[in-house]
Amino acid sequence: MKRRKLTARNADINRLYEESVQCTEFEVSFINKLFKRYNKTKCKSLREDFCASALISSEWVRHNKDNIAIAVDLDRAMIKEAKNTALSRLSSEQQKRIKICYGDSSKFNTDKVDCILATNFSYFVFKQRKKLIDYFKHAYKQLKNRGIFMLDAFGGYEAHQLLEERTKHKNFTYIWDQSSFNPITHEIKCHIHFEFPDKTARKRAFTYEWRLWMLPEIQECLKEAGFTKVDVYMQGWNDKKNEETERFYKVTKCDADPAWVAYLAARK
Ligand SMILES: C[S@@+](CC[C@H](N)C(=O)[O-])C[C@H]1O[C@@H](n2cnc3c(N)ncnc32)[C@H](O)[C@@H]1O
Repeated sequence: MKRRKLTARNADINRLYEESVQCTEFEVSFINKLFKRYNKTKCKSLREDFCASALISSEWVRHNKDNIAIAVDLDRAMIKEAKNTALSRLSSEQQKRIKICYGDSSKFNTDKVDCILATNFSYFVFKQRKKLIDYFKHAYKQLKNRGIFMLDAFGGYEAHQLLEERTKHKNFTYIWDQSSFNPITHEIKCHIHFEFPDKTARKRAFTYEWRLWMLPEIQECLKEAGFTKVDVYMQGWNDKKNEETERFYKVTKCDADPAWVAYLAARK
């Protein structure tokens, strides 16, 4: 059967988002690797904050039959959609090991877990230092002893620039649009647009109004919230291909690249 061409009318923007910015296999294996390195045991329970379509949680329960996941997001429509998607992605046994919940990640209480994950810079939504620390304190409370809180961050001088970055996929183009940045407050506004081969587009499919937190600030706030140790992992670079690698390295010093993505692993 001929596959229907993707257009602005028939595209499911949540699937396009997942394809453009998420890599669940990487995320799951990185969590497993770090948890084993720090604790010499397996990570079993995961809480995915700001979960959107709960893709990582779904992958987590699929990955191992002992794994459980709790996914939390503050968008009711997204939670409804995530539940439906999980039904289609997971077996009935796997569905029993995932909970997808509507709630504010900075307040929502669940059973304590081994790992809390906040990806794609979602916690940048907390613009005041107190709000950020309150969220980190809450994450701390929701972790078991020796639990790990994993979050990502981006920066470099290009993060301060107004720019559009286009990435071509097979059936659509993903556009990351940094549309405003205020150096005084570090407030940043970004949009995601999608364009299709028939020249139609879904402009501003997603919009984020964040504060661009810097790595020293994030580390300080994590420590202030109670975390004993915070490690920074920077993405590797392949000189030959002139692109990022899929590996992240624990470092305390690195080059001032124009654009970088890092992970932070904060230990309870
Ligand atoms: C950038 S998306 C992140 C999606 C996903 N975590 C990822 O890695 O791609 C941000 C998500 O955070 C959610 N969100 C914003 N504020 C929130 C809050 N206080 N608590 C929980 N979810 C929130 C939004 O509804 C949205 O789905």
